[in-house]
Amino acid sequence: MKALFLAISGALAGNAVAQDAFEPTDFNVTEALFANGVNVSALSDLAALVEKRSLSSPCTAACSSLKLIFGSKLLSSGSEPYDTFTSGYWSNQAAFVNPACVFRPSKAIDVSTTILVSRLTQCPFAVKGGGHTAFPGASSIEGGITITMEAMNEITLSSNKKTAFIGPGNRWGAVYKKLGEHNLAVIGGRASDVGLGLVLGGGISHQSSIYGYACDNVASYEVVTASGIILKVTPTLFPDLYWALRGGGNNFGIVTRFELETIPQGLMWGGTRVHTQASYPALIDAFASMAEGATEDPKSAQILSFAVTAGNAAAQIQLEYLEPVDETNPPAILQKYLDIPPLMANTLNRTLANDTVMLTNQMPGGRRYAFWAATYKLDREFMAWLQARHEKDVGPLADQGALAFQAFTVPAMEQMSKKGGNALGLSPADGPLMHTLLYVVWDNASKDEQLNKAALDLMNAAKAEAKDRNLYTEFIYLNYAGPYQNVIPSYGDEKLAKLKSIAKKYDPAAVFQKLQPGGFKLEGAPYGETI
Ligand SMILES: Cc1cc2nc3c(=O)[nH]c(=O)nc-3n(C[C@H](O)[C@H](O)[C@H](O)COP(=O)(O)OP(=O)(O)OC[C@H]3O[C@@H](n4cnc5c(N)ncnc54)[C@H](O)[C@@H]3O)c2cc1C
Ligand SMILES: *[C@@H]1O[C@H](CO)[C@@H](O)[C@H](O)[C@H]1NC(C)=O
Ligand SMILES: *[C@@H]1O[C@H](CO)[C@@H](O)[C@H](O)[C@H]1NC(C)=O
Ligand SMILES: *[C@@H]1O[C@H](CO)[C@@H](O)[C@H](O)[C@H]1NC(C)=O
Ligand SMILES: *[C@@H]1O[C@H](CO)[C@@H](O)[C@H](O)[C@H]1NC(C)=O
Ligand SMILES: *[C@@H]1O[C@H](CO)[C@@H](O)[C@H](O)[C@H]1NC(C)=O
Repeated sequence: MKALFLAISGALAGNAVAQDAFEPTDFNVTEALFANGVNVSALSDLAALVEKRSLSSPCTAACSSLKLIFGSKLLSSGSEPYDTFTSGYWSNQAAFVNPACVFRPSKAIDVSTTILVSRLTQCPFAVKGGGHTAFPGASSIEGGITITMEAMNEITLSSNKKTAFIGPGNRWGAVYKKLGEHNLAVIGGRASDVGLGLVLGGGISHQSSIYGYACDNVASYEVVTASGIILKVTPTLFPDLYWALRGGGNNFGIVTRFELETIPQGLMWGGTRVHTQASYPALIDAFASMAEGATEDPKSAQILSFAVTAGNAAAQIQLEYLEPVDETNPPAILQKYLDIPPLMANTLNRTLANDTVMLTNQMPGGRRYAFWAATYKLDREFMAWLQARHEKDVGPLADQGALAFQAFTVPAMEQMSKKGGNALGLSPADGPLMHTLLYVVWDNASKDEQLNKAALDLMNAAKAEAKDRNLYTEFIYLNYAGPYQNVIPSYGDEKLAKLKSIAKKYDPAAVFQKLQPGGFKLEGAPYGETI
């Protein structure tokens, strides 16, 4: 076994690779592994491959080889750490997936070696960040290798504090807490437990009307490509790949380090207010007014949810302002909401880290969930139509759920064109837009089919109605989409073609399409398109 580990020479040299030759046509995985210090001939389960014999059980060979190479970083099926890991997903559906093994890398080169072992054996893989995608297969893989980024959890400020290096295994609550000690923050998620996968789908944050989405505030990505090369990607280094990673999801590489731009962050104001059905018209007006008013005052943020819980309807508004607020003399943009008397309110001056705990508590894990996303032009009457249909058609069937409205404001969409633009299919000229997240919660798997059907029917009815009213947009937001939705193609033909050509350049063997089958692929919906 002494010849197994060799001096590492290869992976890092990739920065010198010519931009049009990411992978030669005669790319040899065995040699690439060799360059990473792994002698395939010395791994009994893989030696057959060097002699061009096929493997009877690709994933058994891949997992046992990773175990030999990496020891305790590899969690074998049936072990206690493996069981603890698989139960650690937000949704029950994702927690019931059983990978052949779980790999917990601590360095980019570990990730590089795993991709190469997957290619050599043809054992497929999935990558887990914070594990908040509700449907199975996006960050977990039945019978394959689940790569969890959890051990790569650095949070370090750069020397001038203008950026922070954030490991892909972090959760936003920990990031904000640490950076908050320096009165800084980054543009990221609004729930403490969500992970960095959010950046790859866009990333709606409380600060988006000022700074844009999470993906618009990335200084650099460290990415491991399909051929195991470790690249630093910035608006000027590999700018096409940088563009694709801003909204293109998991189709281009595995991010091993995010360098995010920091923003000043002191106390802010925020919390939730709960309202009865009598307030719905006023809430809809307040929502639309705040979305329209973002150009004058971009410091506010809102999520307006019309919930039905065990048959009872109520609305909840998650309201934020990026400075402390005196509720007796609030900024004008909050006034309409604050004028509506709540059943319950817990708005306070708080830290960003504390604010994010609320959303995590309101959406606790451990149940069955479905997300469905759609985007329409902002319109008060259509909001009322959507609310009523949800309350009537889907609300009563689920154990819990909501139709949640968020705004894509004009100033937020304007920020999308920073640094060469992003891959999402939105234009400020169409704004403001309203995003609907249809959020369905239940416990008994026997209800899966009925609820998927009810949700699909609502989405289709809403699409038809939006078209009639001239309010329809194609765009489907990746982070809130469900597995039957055609996300990446919804960005538009031109963006799709560009994304495909970038994938072809950096991943000519389509490793991230074929060997990493989960999540939103370039070709469309994970479970086949229905909408
Ligand atoms: C309670 C809750 C709150 C939410 N709040 C927000 C919000 O405020 N704003 C918003 O925009 N969205 C929000 N979302 C949606 C969220 O952005 C998505 O669920 C997102 O996919 C979560 O990222 P994750 O890392 O936790 O999940 P994961 O399921 O682990 O990852 C998501 C996808 O990204 C891929 N991925 C993860 N890490 C990497 C990596 N390092 N390299 C390559 N691919 C990777 C995974 O393979 C997977 O396909 C929320 C969801 C929930 C459940
Ligand atoms: C890859 O390289 C190894 C070691 O040099 C060699 O034995 C093997 O035949 C090569 N594989 C292919 C497919 O060319
Ligand atoms: C790789 O392993 C094989 C089989 O054990 C051995 O013969 C060979 O010398 C090793 N190569 C190197 C460079 O150590
Ligand atoms: C929040 O901060 C504002 C501005 O400093 C202050 O006027 C207000 O009293 C604070 N609210 C609470 C509840 O402390
Ligand atoms: C944040 O939360 C912690 C823990 O609950 C609490 O001790 C602290 O006072 C809170 N700080 C603010 C400013 O909200
Ligand atoms: C789930 O639903 C089925 C079919 O309605 C029922 O037979 C079963 O008892 C339910 N399971 C639980 C745990 O409630």
